[in-house]
Amino acid sequence: PDFGTCPRKSTVAGGGTRSRQWWPCELNLAVLRQFSEKSNPFGSDFDYASAFSKIDVNQLKKDITAVQTTSQDWWPADFGNYGPFFIRLAWHNAGTYRAVDGRGGAGQGQQRFAPLNSWPDNANLDKARRLLWPIKQKYGAALSWADLFVFAGNTAMENMGFPTYGFGFGRVDTWQSDEGIYWGGEQEMFPEALNNVVRYNGSTDFTTRADELESPLGAVSMGLIYVDPRGPNGTPDTKASALDIRETFGRMGMDDEETVALIAGGHAFGKTHGAVAGSNIGPEPNAAGIELQGLGWKNSFGTGNADDAYTSGLEVIWSRTPTKWANEFLFSLLNNNFTLTKSPDGAPQWEALDANASYPDPFIPGKFRRPTMLTSDLGLRDDPVYNNISKTFLNDFDYFTEKFGLAWYKLLHRDMGPISRYLGPEIPKKAPLIWQDPLPAPAYTTLAACDVSSLKSQILAAPGLNISNLVTTAWGSASTFRISDKRGGANGARIALQPQASFAANNPTRLAAVIKALKGVQTKFQSSGKKVSLADLIVLGGAAAIEKAAKAAGVTVTVPFTPGRVDATQDQTDVSTFAFLQPQADGFRNFGHGTASSLTEELLVDKAALLTLSPPELTVLIGGFRALSANFDGSSTGILTSRPGTLTNDFFVNLLGSYATWSVVNGTNEELFQSTNSAGKVQWTASRADLIFGSHPELRAISEVYGSSDGQSKFVTDFIAAWSKVMDLDRYDVKGHSGPY
Ligand code: HEM
Repeated sequence: PDFGTCPRKSTVAGGGTRSRQWWPCELNLAVLRQFSEKSNPFGSDFDYASAFSKIDVNQLKKDITAVQTTSQDWWPADFGNYGPFFIRLAWHNAGTYRAVDGRGGAGQGQQRFAPLNSWPDNANLDKARRLLWPIKQKYGAALSWADLFVFAGNTAMENMGFPTYGFGFGRVDTWQSDEGIYWGGEQEMFPEALNNVVRYNGSTDFTTRADELESPLGAVSMGLIYVDPRGPNGTPDTKASALDIRETFGRMGMDDEETVALIAGGHAFGKTHGAVAGSNIGPEPNAAGIELQGLGWKNSFGTGNADDAYTSGLEVIWSRTPTKWANEFLFSLLNNNFTLTKSPDGAPQWEALDANASYPDPFIPGKFRRPTMLTSDLGLRDDPVYNNISKTFLNDFDYFTEKFGLAWYKLLHRDMGPISRYLGPEIPKKAPLIWQDPLPAPAYTTLAACDVSSLKSQILAAPGLNISNLVTTAWGSASTFRISDKRGGANGARIALQPQASFAANNPTRLAAVIKALKGVQTKFQSSGKKVSLADLIVLGGAAAIEKAAKAAGVTVTVPFTPGRVDATQDQTDVSTFAFLQPQADGFRNFGHGTASSLTEELLVDKAALLTLSPPELTVLIGGFRALSANFDGSSTGILTSRPGTLTNDFFVNLLGSYATWSVVNGTNEELFQSTNSAGKVQWTASRADLIFGSHPELRAISEVYGSSDGQSKFVTDFIAAWSKVMDLDRYDVKGHSGPY
């Protein structure tokens, strides 16, 4: 067991050795109940959009500008300007985003909490956040930290002469560390782990290993935002650094041009900090003494700041004009001869030894330095593709400015979901960009009740449509949603487009038949001059199927339905990044199974977390899906009922009543199980995604509620509520702005 290393033995609540330390492989449900209203001082009915609407954004900009240009003695500003510092703050908030699972990013203000507040790469950003406190204090609930972190960087950039593309507010703060994000398996933070190979599956060859980076990670090391500025594992190999840059920026959904624009654009501003030896630096915020009040990295050398500052341990300046938007970074990069040198802390960096000292000292007027670069910067010169782009940008400053503006906008907004979530006066009026998953304007917002009920009858009567395939199709459509970056969902009917139409979990052949049949219903309906979208029909099909199955169980119910969805086109669908929405496993439909690193039931909980489901919602949905025979392939795995297609609690009754009769089916790698009856005959088969509900103590406790003699009616009610919640997860158009969870 991992009992950690805290030397103190706490004997009060929460202290002592806990269940998870005794059984470290126990399925962790904590991710399904984080961000509860108990942690949120604003309560669950807080509406950020209406709180924010009171803000005068022009005044806010003035306030940020005043802070940006007023140096404070406790952390003096380089060049009298915190602008570059605020840009780094914004970038490090947004830059944790990765496209694979949509997690990370600036959207929740997570940098206030561990581990991010204490990542080595975020060194001294505790000061940047503290500098902004007077602004946060002034605006209170009307301005989230999450918005302020990135807006401060955006405003700083404008103040330094960069024409930004626009800005959307609307990031809602969370109040605890997001435990749902896998940040890696290391037990050491950068830079101590110089030989860290954990996330490269043991591979040490950084000239070939970049793409072996463990999924879904987007950084080369624990505690870094992207790559090691010194080069891979501290080795000053510029070309290998470029490989790491391409891989990690690619995982954020950035192409080569966007990547060069971001790095060259960002490093047009500011400088790095490593004036003294790293041995002078105290612990990070989460390990620092209580008297430091949440600040860390206390520097005991000299003044501990300004010209003695230590952040990355590298001491580099990129530009003659570090507080003004200009093409100086690329000019320096492509016009100087850089020689490998060492920072005062002994870290590898590069200096143009034969160049004039013309780059300003941040504090001593009239003192100048020679041009310097990070190994990672030189990757933009030494990688042939990056080199071409860098040259183009150097030769055409306007083009560079435009591309950096677009890439910066994407960086800050990538995890915000539909544009309807953006707030404030600076949302670009231009057409949406492809990464924003554009949708056409709705053709209608309501359907007459009689039309809804006639459509449901027509769907149920259509040849080829049945309870099982209507439920799996509606689920396949809606359950692509992920709260992490709010992509996916039923709106847009993208399940009928590539790549979703080909996702194995959707059973493409069966899906195509369902879509065809639903389109038939749509055509007939529209021939009477009315309108209904395919996206709505897919969801309505699920509702009709559930109502029919409930009726078969003797209950008359109406499944809530919120019309107004629209149909996207293939052109509006970014196939390569939508591919990330493909489920590796979907235990709800009994599709797929675990990997070498994650068990099937862990993937089920991961998906449930992205769907914001609580443990009871997860449980009731599984029971319902099995009753509805909603496996992706129509198989009988986990269908623990003799009357499939009837909305009963049979799954729970039969699971809980099967006394120790389950055994592993040989050759299935413990993925498939069977139970035998007293005569020794195989009665049921089930997957890990089924049996976990009888095995895990908390899931079993919930299953018992639904499997009890008084559980049936609660089961039906709760199933329909959880189902409807998932169907509407992406409906920010009707829910209003709404929070992150
Ligand atoms: C500063 C590395 C990309 C904006 C720094 C520092 C390092 C670094 C080591 C110095 C921190 C310190 O000691 O104070 C990298 C690496 C990148 C990268 C390895 C990717 C390969 C970016 C991007 C942006 C950006 C994409 C913004 C678009 C900045 C700014 C500073 C900075 C403005 C100056 C901060 C200040 O003056 O206090 N970067 N960076 N960087 N970075 Fe980056």
